Amino acid sequence: MTVSQMRRRNVPQRYILPLQHRPTLTDRNPMQQHCFFTRPLPVIDLSSLDNPLLRSRLVGQVSLACKEFGFFQVINHGIPVSLTKDALDVAQEFFDLPNETKMRLASDNVCKPVRYGTSLNHVKDKVQYWRDFIKHYSQPISTWIDSWPSDPPTYKQKMGKYTKAINDLHKKLMGLVFESLGLKPDYLKKEVEQGSQVTAVNYYPSCPEPSLALGLPPHTDYGLLTILLQNQQGLQIMDKTGNWQSVPVIKGGLVVQLGDHMEVLSNGRYRGVVHRAVLNSEKNRISIANIQSLSMDTKVGPASELVDKRYPVMYEEASFGGFLKFISGNNIREEKYIDTLRKQKSIR
Ligand code: OGA
Ligand code: NI
Repeated sequence: MTVSQMRRRNVPQRYILPLQHRPTLTDRNPMQQHCFFTRPLPVIDLSSLDNPLLRSRLVGQVSLACKEFGFFQVINHGIPVSLTKDALDVAQEFFDLPNETKMRLASDNVCKPVRYGTSLNHVKDKVQYWRDFIKHYSQPISTWIDSWPSDPPTYKQKMGKYTKAINDLHKKLMGLVFESLGLKPDYLKKEVEQGSQVTAVNYYPSCPEPSLALGLPPHTDYGLLTILLQNQQGLQIMDKTGNWQSVPVIKGGLVVQLGDHMEVLSNGRYRGVVHRAVLNSEKNRISIANIQSLSMDTKVGPASELVDKRYPVMYEEASFGGFLKFISGNNIREEKYIDTLRKQKSIR
């Protein structure tokens, strides 16, 4: 049963996490927030992206954010508010559809290019997560768009415009990230242009007891970058000191997270960011995560420029297919995909 379908007056037993996995939702003492060891989460203004004189400063900010957090938010990224609003609105319309309509897209098979579902992997999860989702492959768009939901009738058009804009932004961000690693900004240009995009539209209905359950457990995303849009606060990232930090909703902002493929490509210079979704008792929350990588059958390996005597090859090559195989057979609470790619199993 999906979360949207339930009468949600209390949290059913199957969603209640063991004590040690429950989120602590009290905000930390605001006085402590700016102690020297908790840096504020980085926000990067992209308005100077095309100004060659200011680019190196931008690259420096990206480098710092990737090293410190594996995460940043971007503002002035050029995607009009009307596109983000339309995408969130049509997502809400989708989740408001009658259950029978949505269930026509339901599948337990993680390899399906379009899939409606609940929790993370509701067959494998020992405790269920308080999330419903529609996931679909989005790039190359001409290959996939016909298979997207045809209800609501404007879904394809609105989500199509949004995911296309995100895909274009991803190319620009990859130029900055490559430069921040000392690579040329047009490194793997063709591969990035022909890359894949998987869209996860997540719905977290309000939860009567948000301290007992989670929307998504701690995990890293598999791709190079994930670009995420949220309409309410609820995403948390783990910082270097092991603290959970809530990612604030910034007007016009988009969240950028480094994933496993980036960790592999950078040969461990950058790490994928561990994140989770917490719940709230008042509002339903929607997020749209676009997971970007090279094409689905391209293997991502450590960049040869980032391999030398001091930094030997640290990771096996990774592919989308390998990731799907991993998640269909494993519980991510107990095992992490990136750990299976590490050559020395003890480096973290
Ligand atoms: C995801 C994810 C977080 C959120 O879809 O992989 O981490 O805030 N989502 O919805
Ligand atoms: Ni994620």
